Amino acid sequence: MATLIDGKAVSARIRGEIRDEVAELAKAGKVPGLAVVLVGEDPASKVYVNNKKKACAEVGFRSFEYLLPATTTNEELLSLIDTLNEDPEVDGILVQLPLPKGLDERAVIERINPAKDVDAFHPDNVGRIMTGQYRFLPCTPAGVMELIHETGTEVCGKNCVVVGRSNIVGKPMAMLLLAENGTVTVCHSRTRDLASVCAGADILVVAVGRAKMVTADMVKPGAVVIDVGMDRDENGKLCGDVDFDSVKEVASAITPVPGGVGPMTIAMLMKNTLTAFKLRRGNK
Ligand code: GUN
Repeated sequence: MATLIDGKAVSARIRGEIRDEVAELAKAGKVPGLAVVLVGEDPASKVYVNNKKKACAEVGFRSFEYLLPATTTNEELLSLIDTLNEDPEVDGILVQLPLPKGLDERAVIERINPAKDVDAFHPDNVGRIMTGQYRFLPCTPAGVMELIHETGTEVCGKNCVVVGRSNIVGKPMAMLLLAENGTVTVCHSRTRDLASVCAGADILVVAVGRAKMVTADMVKPGAVVIDVGMDRDENGKLCGDVDFDSVKEVASAITPVPGGVGPMTIAMLMKNTLTAFKLRRGNK
């Protein structure tokens, strides 16, 4: 039976460290600020944005929330970003994705000042991750690395398999594992014999968005399994991309859903916002 990797506890610890640091800054009258922009009415996005706002309050950041109608035009959204880029009180800018149809996600991301891009989605920041010159790490992959470290597992020399190749998770995940000298394989919908590739993994990270897709036969005994999925099973219950009940019998360590990677994403967002604050006005 695998050890459970408690993302909620690790996230709380990191947010506690940030809160302590922010309390010190507050004594000098300095308060980091995060602007969160939500366009439209997507219910999951509303929950995520609300959680980000709550986390800001908890660590002592100011948060600036912009809830815009789905009818917002590209010009209106880009103009808001220009305003936030100029605002000295705003250290981080996060535009919740996906954007409603008709809005140009790439143009919006590219408009954000890279020094305020706490998601690390701007091509400038993506490039910096490739070369190790990063300001910020993308929140979810950075959170996954924290959880792997939490297990005491050395990534160096291990077979690391990432299932999923999204810009937000899969691709940067591969870069972070590679940066720690893992031997990395990235799988996707066209991968042949996914089961046998996964079965070679010492560290398996799954981010595909398909409920319980990874089953026990696809997992090497003793592997560390990280589940980035946030899906619904046949009964509408929240579950991950990994079939937790069977895989926990094979893995040495596994993240639950919920309570695994999810809380880490927010902790890393808070960390990036504090980093953005320090980069822009830390010693002013
Ligand atoms: N949508 C799903 N995950 C994320 C994220 O990490 N950042 C933003 N901005 N949107 C998302």
